[in-house]
Amino acid sequence: APEPAVAVSDTPDLETLRERAAGCTACELYEGTTGTVFGTGPVTARMMFVGEQPGDQEDRALSPFVGPAGKLFDEALVEAGIAREDAYVTNAVKHFSFRQQGSRRIHQTPKVGHVRACRPWLDGELALVRPHVLVTLGATAGKALLGSSFRITGERGEPRPWEGTTLLPTIHPSAILRADPARGQDGAEMRAGFVADLRKAAELLG
Ligand code: URA
Repeated sequence: APEPAVAVSDTPDLETLRERAAGCTACELYEGTTGTVFGTGPVTARMMFVGEQPGDQEDRALSPFVGPAGKLFDEALVEAGIAREDAYVTNAVKHFSFRQQGSRRIHQTPKVGHVRACRPWLDGELALVRPHVLVTLGATAGKALLGSSFRITGERGEPRPWEGTTLLPTIHPSAILRADPARGQDGAEMRAGFVADLRKAAELLG
């Protein structure tokens, strides 16, 4: 059985937690990846973002949101007046889940069991950073923290109290990149909505 990430009697600092997570084999996703992609940002951050899982580029760089979704995320943060370096950015699942297609690694949505296996690390990050505002990006992060009944549609952009913080669910930047007009999805509109949600998060900081 994996060691608990944070025992009550032994609350480590972020660096210790990161080192412990680096060796995590609590689910099979570590196989075939570069490594654990732990969160980045200061322990003093007042805003925390939780994404789904690292992508191909995040796995190579061992850093969250550095690929195409990260670029869009960075742009949206700038538009919303949020400095990324002041925020803590992490994922619900910290290993890249993919299927191999030739030389390409294709993203696969992590399973509930992966989210559950990874939860101690996220709980550790939350306990140490204690963000004032917590923003979930997409359905996986929303479900991870709010439960399986969470739905992006209808719940995104609606802040709620959660475990001593204010949680604001929004869409995932990858959903904007994948916007399909044939399915009635307007990428520009989704992007504007995403920035509006981020602005709301900034306002919640007070
Ligand atoms: N998508 C995520 O959810 N997280 C990342 O770190 C990159 C892409």
